[in-house]
Amino acid sequence: MRIDFITVLPDIVSPVLQTGMMKRAVDKGLCEYSVYDLHDFSQLKTQHIDDTPYGGGAGMVLSPDPLFRCIEHCKSLHTYDEIIFLTPDGEQLTQTLANTLSLSKNLLLISGRYKGIDQRVRDTFVTKEISIGDYVLTGGELPSLIVADAIIRLIPGVISDSESSLSDSFQDNLLDAPYYTKPATYRDMEVPSVLLSGNHKLIEEWKFQQSLGKTKLRRPDLLEKK
Ligand code: ADE
Repeated sequence: MRIDFITVLPDIVSPVLQTGMMKRAVDKGLCEYSVYDLHDFSQLKTQHIDDTPYGGGAGMVLSPDPLFRCIEHCKSLHTYDEIIFLTPDGEQLTQTLANTLSLSKNLLLISGRYKGIDQRVRDTFVTKEISIGDYVLTGGELPSLIVADAIIRLIPGVISDSESSLSDSFQDNLLDAPYYTKPATYRDMEVPSVLLSGNHKLIEEWKFQQSLGKTKLRRPDLLEKK
């Protein structure tokens, strides 16, 4: 899979791609990234990439020209399954959406800043708009990395235990059961005895009941989806 990023702040995006799971995916030959700095596509001497909004109002809007030129450059190199704009008014990111996107070959993620981007960019190129939640961040860089993380970890082979991403919270609309590791007793706190029993059927039943109980308490909306 290839994931390309367009941003005015590559210094937020690039270091994350060079660390941890995101880097491992590249080292294993399972993922490739390119990060494009929008300033490089400005035709202005000042390299300005934003301007004040027509109709007035606070904040700045990313101008159409650098974005058009940058996206056209990316499209000349690759065919994208989706061109995604990160925005609080987009479709909410869910595990189901991450699962679907993880089947893509090439994705282009566009981060906005300030008040957003010129609507003509959205109308011309963007095929999907994603929000990571009902709150407003300063820009789309962190959301784009969150979307990328949620997708890349699902690519077979990226996470060593092939089962582990399938058993995540949300994969079956249930929150995850609690986890424990050694030692069995720590500061007088015991690991639930069923987990030490070696009885896999009992353990699975215990995990399911824990998941169900936690989901009922914290996210009853997920049970309605089930
Ligand atoms: N940009 C700013 N806030 C955002 C959000 N909540 N989701 C996606 N992109 C954003």
